[in-house]
Amino acid sequence: MRQIEFKDESETFVIRDPENYSGLYLPMAGTEGIKSSITPNWGGDSKTDQNHFLLEPVSAENLHNNKNTRNFWCRIEGEGYWSVCGNSAEQESSRFTREQDESILEAGFMWQTLVRKSKKYGIEAKMTIFVPVDGAAEVTLVTLTNNRDEKMEVTPIAAIPIYGRSADNIRDHRHVTSLLHRIYTSTHGITVTPVLSFDERGHQKNETSYFVYGWTENGEAPESFYPTVEEFIGEGGSFLIPEAVRKEKAGKPAGVKIQGKEAVGGIRFAKAVLEKGESRSYIVLAGIAQTKEQIEKTASRYRTLAKGMQALDEVKTYWRKQVNVSFETGNKREDHYLKWICFQPILRRIYGCSFLPYHDYGKGGRGWRDLWQDCLALLIMEPSLVRQMILSNYGGVRMDGTNATIIGNRPGEFVADRNNITRVWMDHAFWPFVTTKFYMDQTGDLEVLLEKVPYFKDLQAKRGEAHDTQWRAEEGDKQRTKSGQIYFGSVLEHILLQNLCAFFDVGEHNEMRLHGADWNDALDMAWERGESVAFTCAYAGNLKDIAKYLRNLEQKCGYNKVELAEEMQILLTGGNTLFEDPEKKQNLLKQYGDQCIHNISGKTILVKIEEISRNLEEKAQWLMEHIRTDEWIKGEEGEGWFNGYYDNHGNAVERYQKDQIRMMLTGQVFAIMSGTADAKQIKEICRSADHYLYEKSAGGYRLNTDFKEEKFDLGRMFGFAYGEKENGAVFSHMTVMYANALYQRGFAKEGYKALNTLLEAAQNFENSKMYPGIPEYFDNQGRGLYAYLTGAASWYMLTVITEMFGVKGELGDLTIHPSLMPEQFDDKGNASVYLEFGKRKFKIQIKNPDKAEPGAYRIKKAACDDNRLALLDETKASLAKKQINALKQDEIHQIVVLLEKC
Ligand code: G1P
Repeated sequence: MRQIEFKDESETFVIRDPENYSGLYLPMAGTEGIKSSITPNWGGDSKTDQNHFLLEPVSAENLHNNKNTRNFWCRIEGEGYWSVCGNSAEQESSRFTREQDESILEAGFMWQTLVRKSKKYGIEAKMTIFVPVDGAAEVTLVTLTNNRDEKMEVTPIAAIPIYGRSADNIRDHRHVTSLLHRIYTSTHGITVTPVLSFDERGHQKNETSYFVYGWTENGEAPESFYPTVEEFIGEGGSFLIPEAVRKEKAGKPAGVKIQGKEAVGGIRFAKAVLEKGESRSYIVLAGIAQTKEQIEKTASRYRTLAKGMQALDEVKTYWRKQVNVSFETGNKREDHYLKWICFQPILRRIYGCSFLPYHDYGKGGRGWRDLWQDCLALLIMEPSLVRQMILSNYGGVRMDGTNATIIGNRPGEFVADRNNITRVWMDHAFWPFVTTKFYMDQTGDLEVLLEKVPYFKDLQAKRGEAHDTQWRAEEGDKQRTKSGQIYFGSVLEHILLQNLCAFFDVGEHNEMRLHGADWNDALDMAWERGESVAFTCAYAGNLKDIAKYLRNLEQKCGYNKVELAEEMQILLTGGNTLFEDPEKKQNLLKQYGDQCIHNISGKTILVKIEEISRNLEEKAQWLMEHIRTDEWIKGEEGEGWFNGYYDNHGNAVERYQKDQIRMMLTGQVFAIMSGTADAKQIKEICRSADHYLYEKSAGGYRLNTDFKEEKFDLGRMFGFAYGEKENGAVFSHMTVMYANALYQRGFAKEGYKALNTLLEAAQNFENSKMYPGIPEYFDNQGRGLYAYLTGAASWYMLTVITEMFGVKGELGDLTIHPSLMPEQFDDKGNASVYLEFGKRKFKIQIKNPDKAEPGAYRIKKAACDDNRLALLDETKASLAKKQINALKQDEIHQIVVLLEKC
């Protein structure tokens, strides 16, 4: 089994001949600015947002057929030409015979280095690319070395095609938009400043410039330039065999202006005479800037090799510091993979779901559910940012409990929908409380619930069923009161609204309506009669937990009443007569919706915390009982699972029939996580999942069995080939949540199986063909697809820390309740996690000398820096918030938890 090798203790990995695997790419970005993807051949693209692409936008399928990409050529006097990136017609044709080149790629967070040796030409190159932390440009450092016994003459030519416009113009007016280009050569490079941003709804004057600059290692200017594609590739040429490289062709000097052409940052350096063993280095910068001064400023930072190397070190240090969590278990490779998994949520925060080759959907911004879940990982790595993020994001909730679906890059910036389609994802209101709950536990900050934030307002009303025709865009996107004031309600009010509206929004089986879809975006064709039992479970869990945290608020902070919008009173109606009648519930919701369709009164009521808590518990209990009895499907002896959905014909989607087993994982996950499934049911679910969904070689638990039906009455997923994406692939996010739910309910062995199989599949490079990390899913051949940007990463990280190691906050106290399997400990029986908690650094070591299984061990002794920790029970140690606050901030505190067999 071919595996990725790791170089040091951290994330740096090495892979030979990486170009012989398809679909590989690495993300490279700054904290703002440039977001790039880069393949082993230097393909991929680079942009700051949807409307500003430096390189032509690529989807996964372009990675192997698009050759008009970054390149660095060596024209070897009298002999031929060679691409450092392996991107020449000659290298392409001899690649699989390996007669010519050898290549090794080394990569880390936001950088990669390729060492390529040419047997034919006796030349070697080391080429590094990275995006500096400020995201101002891509920096490439190239060192050429003469491996021959004699001197050689080389003319280096860098070539980066400059697309310089919006992704929309890739097909729409591609040629016309090139006519807007104004191309300039200056002493160090080529700049393209289009005259207009092309938009037929109203063209905008463009200020953005795209540039490619170059220097020799000591900061000397290039010799000349090839600024247009036609000049660079020549008549009948291509980027794989460009004329300016193929033959001696004079370039343009500095100071030339060209209009209306496709541009390329073609930079020709002076011919270098390299003695035997001699090296020469070059720097190439490619970026996007708002002003000419900004280009010069950026240029001045990287124009020598020494400066470039220093910036590379800064990049390595910065991103390593961001991933301030690490693991030492019995499996070193896994520890390295976990580093990348912890990095993934940071990447999704930067890229959203739009800007890597597989993620070619949307136009930027971050999806509601993704953003809230990525916050879970942030709460571990960068908790200080999260409070404000939580507060800003609640501002996206509408008065009807739905929300703006896309969140912009600035705090409090919301967009109703990517494509301006009215859609309601019925799971959306579930996630904010999950994150807020975790936040309260990690920090002890319960009072966040009482912070006041606005509500989102747009045309959409009554949970996607109506429009507020009185609303005008000029009124702004915040909910107003009748007197025209912006209305502010507490975070708690937002949470209650979201979960209570969901409670009443039921279909004919008294399960919550599916609307546009739930977590599974591809269940999108059952608006009228679809229901999601899966998320009815999830909301039931929320209702129960909200009550718990409200009681905590009362006990710990001394509040006994909370203020709510008066319109909400009706949502607190209780009683089984109402609960059992879907029509009554919908009527109640309608009544509420009518009151808030436009402006609300602005009046508030005070409600006792005890009263709300009881009301929520009553609702939660009713829901769980209803699901337990009405949705359970009995399978073979000792097996069974929950029906998770109703389709648009009102039929239950899952079923047990000897010749037609229909089982989906999602419903099981939320039944387990919420506490709806009892212990016996969990066992039966696990047996059924093992029987019908588990396939080790595919990565573990599939999302569903093969329905062998296109099912237009449920969603597009059934149109996908079976075993791909949401139709029955091993879809990491749900598998990981399955594991998390199992751990939460004390089924550590079963949870471990789900996570471990997934990670093993990712690590089997020969099959998964992906860099370290976990993919969104594995396809039918086992390839890991949609790398990096998956919510699975947050949940994976969370599960390893809070469930496997069992390190988590309980209202600000640090508790440790390990559930590690024997094979996760090293030879000596130790496993450690480094992390920050309560602004302090900890190394938490779990010692299990007997290598006993979870359930078969108890804590013998636990201490922090030699001071004993309190034991909450036999298997749970705790360090109180007060004690944490007394610890020094700059030291690493050692917590040791010694286990013994029981
Ligand atoms: C993606 C989406 C996520 C959605 C899921 C299933 O998953 O980003 O919002 O719930 O597909 O349709 P992910 O990227 O988290 O793997």
